[in-house]
Amino acid sequence: MANRRLAPAAEQPQSFAFSSENAEWAKGQIDKYPEGRQASAVIPLLWKAQEQNGGWLPQKAIEAVADELGMPHIRVLEVATFYTMFALEPVGRFWIQLCGTVPCDSCGARELKDYLHARLGAPGHVSADGNFSWLEVECLGACCNAPMAQINQDYYEDLTPELLGKLMDDLAAGRPVKVGSQIGRTSSEPKGGPDTLTDASLFDGSRVGAWRKRFETADSKQDEAGGKAEAASSEQRAAVDPKPARPDAGRAVGTATTDAPAQRNAAGETPVPAGAKADAADTTESTAQRNKPAAPEAIAKAEAAGAEAGTQSDLPRNEPPPQPVASGANDDAAATSAPQKGN
Ligand code: FES
Repeated sequence: MANRRLAPAAEQPQSFAFSSENAEWAKGQIDKYPEGRQASAVIPLLWKAQEQNGGWLPQKAIEAVADELGMPHIRVLEVATFYTMFALEPVGRFWIQLCGTVPCDSCGARELKDYLHARLGAPGHVSADGNFSWLEVECLGACCNAPMAQINQDYYEDLTPELLGKLMDDLAAGRPVKVGSQIGRTSSEPKGGPDTLTDASLFDGSRVGAWRKRFETADSKQDEAGGKAEAASSEQRAAVDPKPARPDAGRAVGTATTDAPAQRNAAGETPVPAGAKADAADTTESTAQRNKPAAPEAIAKAEAAGAEAGTQSDLPRNEPPPQPVASGANDDAAATSAPQKGN
């Protein structure tokens, strides 16, 4: 990583001001941010100042950007010296930023660095013809096509010392060059060509709606196969376990009552008990009548009859039953009425 210092005073211009066109552009950038957040436009403004100054950022440009944004000069200097995208010294017509981070390093960046040392000398110096300067930088985000270098605004990938040398020759001569991979890779596909998504029908539109057709075909085949299997299964079951026809299936069937006169007769019992006959004949007495309290004369008659028979009447009463006589209460009377021994 190179030192990030400002160019010597002898190389610094005495002043810097945005051109009217760039000043208008800078105003548009600043207006993107809310009031009080204008400092957020510092990187685009530094970038534009570098572009206007021939590819590098002098101290006066850094101060002009700070003044434009109302920032302390040191704050903008911190930004400019942090990012290697800002060149702090004069650069050649083609500024080469060579990635030296691990993926590029392990894929051959050291050989490229040796080549640049040999051809251009130490980094940070413009070549004698003014065409080139170079700098080793950290990862530029194209590791998949390592090793790589950024030359001005473009990336050149899959480099070897030979390919880099030819590229520099072509640039210096003004010949057209190919940006991106220098070995024919498209984007970051595998070396040797793509090995996935190689079916041309994926890209010619012929697969539009194919998924629907596939599902519909599968569904209809499944339905057909299911119907055949079900029919075969029914036939097989009928052959193995035939069922008798049931013409009455589903119709209401009368069931014999369990306590009918005809059954009792057949069993040798009285078809209809006498009491049941009387009950059935008595169509006048309702349940309410049956539960109605008996008249007092009827109770008296029933009790008298019960007393004669030695039983109690079970007719319902309106009065509470008489209380039993306490034990021993009539002993005197009994003794009086009992026959005297010896009489
Ligand atoms: S390591 Fe070189 S581009 Fe990422």
